[in-house]
Amino acid sequence: MNFLNGVFMAHIKVAVLVGSIRTASLNRRLANALMRLGPSSFVFEEIGIDDMPFYNADLEASRPETVRAFTDQIRSSQALLIVTPEYNRSIPAVLKNAIDWGSKPTTENVWRDLPAAITGASPGAIGTAVGQQHLRQILAVLGATVMGGEAYIGFKRPDLIDEDGHIDDESTRDFLKAYMDKFASLAQRLLRK
Ligand SMILES: Cc1cc2nc3c(=O)[nH]c(=O)nc-3n(C[C@H](O)[C@H](O)[C@H](O)COP(=O)(O)O)c2cc1C
Repeated sequence: MNFLNGVFMAHIKVAVLVGSIRTASLNRRLANALMRLGPSSFVFEEIGIDDMPFYNADLEASRPETVRAFTDQIRSSQALLIVTPEYNRSIPAVLKNAIDWGSKPTTENVWRDLPAAITGASPGAIGTAVGQQHLRQILAVLGATVMGGEAYIGFKRPDLIDEDGHIDDESTRDFLKAYMDKFASLAQRLLRK
């Protein structure tokens, strides 16, 4: 049985997308930390985004297998967690490409009605604030419900979160735990069937 603040929670399959595909990604570490902190009602599934070709409507007649697998996984999820860096005040192209594939054809848009949480990490001064605003705008037009509030994680020191997602700072841990609890409540309320 799963309870959060005394309330029963059904199991929720959460698709996790990481907007950086580099091996030593800080955002991957943050995603690992969030998965550790998520409630037991969440069943996380990390979904790769680096094996799809660039979106091209010419490929729609026979969608590549990697694209089919990606959209099937999102379609079978009940919530979405995106952890992404900011690239030049927007989101990385590899993430946008995955979102574009999932948005077409419009009648089969896989993002519609998905409760979503977005966050990101950066060593930069203003974190991923602007990139997240872009992502929020994109997901809104696609019909996902993005959790309110904002979470920007500044990696002032590279060992803040290790590769396994252990956080070396209590206030950051508390903040991210509260963030995941809030996401769990949202996902529970908006559960996509
Ligand atoms: C093409 C490119 C553009 C970037 N633009 C930004 C930016 O606009 N804002 C920012 O905070 N960091 C920017 N950065 C720095 C990234 O935040 C930093 O490289 C971060 O570690 C990338 O995330 P990752 O560690 O998960 O790969 C940029 C990095 C690259 C490679």
